[in-house]
Amino acid sequence: MPTIVEIADLKKLAQKRVPKMFFDYADSGSWTESTYRANESDFQKIMLRQRVAVDMTNRNLKTQLVGQNISMPVAIAPTGLAGMQHADGEMLAAQACEEAGIPYTLSTMSICSIEDVAAATSQPFWFQLYVMKDRGFVNSLIDRAKAAGCSALVLTFDLQILGQRHKDIRNQLSAPPRLTPKHLLQMATRPGWCLKMAGTKRHDFRNIVGHAPGVTDLSSLGAWTAEQFDPKLSWEDIEWIKERWGGPLILKGILDPDDAAIAAQSGADALIVSNHGGRQLDGARSSIQALPSIVDKVGDQIEIHLDGGIRSGQDVLKALCMGAKGVYIGRPYLYGLGALGKPGVSKVLEIIRNELDITMALCGERDVTQLGLHNIDPASEFIK
Ligand SMILES: Cc1cc2nc3c(=O)[nH]c(=O)nc-3n(C[C@H](O)[C@H](O)[C@H](O)COP(=O)(O)O)c2cc1C
Repeated sequence: MPTIVEIADLKKLAQKRVPKMFFDYADSGSWTESTYRANESDFQKIMLRQRVAVDMTNRNLKTQLVGQNISMPVAIAPTGLAGMQHADGEMLAAQACEEAGIPYTLSTMSICSIEDVAAATSQPFWFQLYVMKDRGFVNSLIDRAKAAGCSALVLTFDLQILGQRHKDIRNQLSAPPRLTPKHLLQMATRPGWCLKMAGTKRHDFRNIVGHAPGVTDLSSLGAWTAEQFDPKLSWEDIEWIKERWGGPLILKGILDPDDAAIAAQSGADALIVSNHGGRQLDGARSSIQALPSIVDKVGDQIEIHLDGGIRSGQDVLKALCMGAKGVYIGRPYLYGLGALGKPGVSKVLEIIRNELDITMALCGERDVTQLGLHNIDPASEFIK
């Protein structure tokens, strides 16, 4: 077992343990993947101010997101098919989050269902909603999330239509996987993964199959998404969703200040500055580059969160300094899950917490809620 000190170590391990089609599903962006890459690399363009001889005892990472107490300003982003990175992946990751005191967001396109995750945890988790053409089915998803005690609804606004990921097409991605010679070979070279998968019955989209009328099998995610996701989704839809849900509502996928202005008036409690991890509009800005103009425009009107490209506690701190109240991590948790299952997710959270804590101290700060632009070197890019 290699020594694990940073997220990149878990990524390497996941690549060895997860069949290629599912590792690639996580490690990919749309088209040229330029926005996917920029999400990560733009964090390097932000420099921190080092301060010395400041009392660094009694540091605090606790804060609140949408009024809920959390142990650090980090949540897990919703990701489809997490249960294909590791058997029962969503249940295990939600348990790791519960132990770490941070929110787990379950995707509509998960392998484990809302009910599976509720049965595996004792604290509320968050649910991410995709709006489909069949509003009856959307209503039933909202009702199931309520019944399971979910404590926030994350409404994804940037996937009315699917951006193309070349790797998924080449890999003929599906869940459960196809049993062609190519796919069988990919799985046969990952015996640990196969063994765990053989031990669970959770192999397809359990929020959907058997719940959406007429859906008994979901062999092609791309085709189903193209057919079912509602390309007419609009700002007006927020009202009925909010009314039916009745709890904290978070709008995910805002990248433009003009959209942020509408989101701030929409009745949502928070917005997530996000480009879907570079998986939708390739060529769009990185999330961290988009953040300052959105904070300028609506920072005093709505809680602002961010996801995309966070690979360390230092990245978390930079986003907080630039005005995000909290961040979400997508791929890092999938790498932890694929590498080591639940202990891998716990390791990711431990690495990020530790890096955030030490970096905060070296910036001369003791309270995560007090970070701000004063901690960023003004010579950094994206800083006015
Ligand atoms: C494999 C994968 C699957 C995803 N599935 C969903 C999803 O089902 N719903 C959603 O709103 N976002 C989804 N996303 C986007 C994430 O919620 C998040 O915006 C993105 O992963 C953040 O970037 P990061 O991976 O660099 O942390 C997915 C991302 C990845 C990598």
